[in-house]
Amino acid sequence: IKTRYLAAIADAPDEAGLEAVRLAALGKKGEVSLLMRGLGAMSPEERQVAGPALNGLRDEIADALTEAKGRLADAALDARLASEWADVTLAPRPEREGTIHPVSQVMEEVAAIFADLGFAVAEGPQVESDWYNFDALNIPAEHPARQDHDTFYMARSGGDNRPPHVLRTHTSPVQIRAMEARGVPIRVIAPGRVYRADYDQTHTPMFHQIEGLCIDRDVSMANLKWVLEEFCRAFFEVDGVELKFRASHFPFTEPSAEVDIRCSWAGGQLKIGEGDDWLEILGSGMVHPKVLAAAGVDPEKWQGFAFGMGIDRIAMLKYGIPDLRSFFESDLRWLRHYGFAS
Ligand code: PHE
Repeated sequence: IKTRYLAAIADAPDEAGLEAVRLAALGKKGEVSLLMRGLGAMSPEERQVAGPALNGLRDEIADALTEAKGRLADAALDARLASEWADVTLAPRPEREGTIHPVSQVMEEVAAIFADLGFAVAEGPQVESDWYNFDALNIPAEHPARQDHDTFYMARSGGDNRPPHVLRTHTSPVQIRAMEARGVPIRVIAPGRVYRADYDQTHTPMFHQIEGLCIDRDVSMANLKWVLEEFCRAFFEVDGVELKFRASHFPFTEPSAEVDIRCSWAGGQLKIGEGDDWLEILGSGMVHPKVLAAAGVDPEKWQGFAFGMGIDRIAMLKYGIPDLRSFFESDLRWLRHYGFAS
């Protein structure tokens, strides 16, 4: 019996095999257990001989099982260690890194330039009330400028007759919110997303603007001109930037000016600061007294300028990108081509 079981233990390929051997020998109905149960029926003389012999047999088999179990566990661990090693000295696989979107890069760059000029950053909601987007900016209902904006309106629930909220059509409502929140004097820029129902090579229904606002006791158009020239010099990295202030009209500024920058389109290549072409980059003007009053600021004591610039537009100019829509298509080949992704 002993030789048979020790051989079976030695041959067991795994723990399940060992367990089968254990049951066959030492289990409740195992061969050795049954023999030991037979001890009770023996005469005392027989038992004196058979008892120690069977105990010894049982212990030897149990010891062999324990030993074999340990041996199999070691072997299993060795096999795992052999299959799961990693060579930590190997060079890492090259991985593509995410990058900041060009519009966000330009937005950060613009904010940094204006921070140097003493402008803090203000924010407002993208879903805006009719009041902030229009009325407070001197664009009452029925004003033709409302039609110009191709506004996205947010539906009210049935029976609610209040004017609908809008997706803000410009960052100018942040002028009002910032003056209400911070009071005057104030010097802020407000970068963010704006929305208009418009789509072609130079228009996307969502785009980005940066609003500027400076209100103090003694601020004039001359300050506006200096700030914008200083900004363009820093942003386009050319000393000889030339800006043209073209008389224009916005309900929320008086007087108003649109600003063009001198450039050339030689051979499809855009160059800022030279040539005979002019490109519009922003709208601006002296903040209308009614706008100050709407924000709770006394127009007899305070005055200042505001401007609104298309961020995507100036990013196109800086990087020579012909189609605004490509900014928002998330095409990796395009991003790589312009050096915006690795
Ligand atoms: N809000 C105007 C626009 O979206 C730009 C602007 C801002 C003009 C501030 C004047 C002053 O076109």
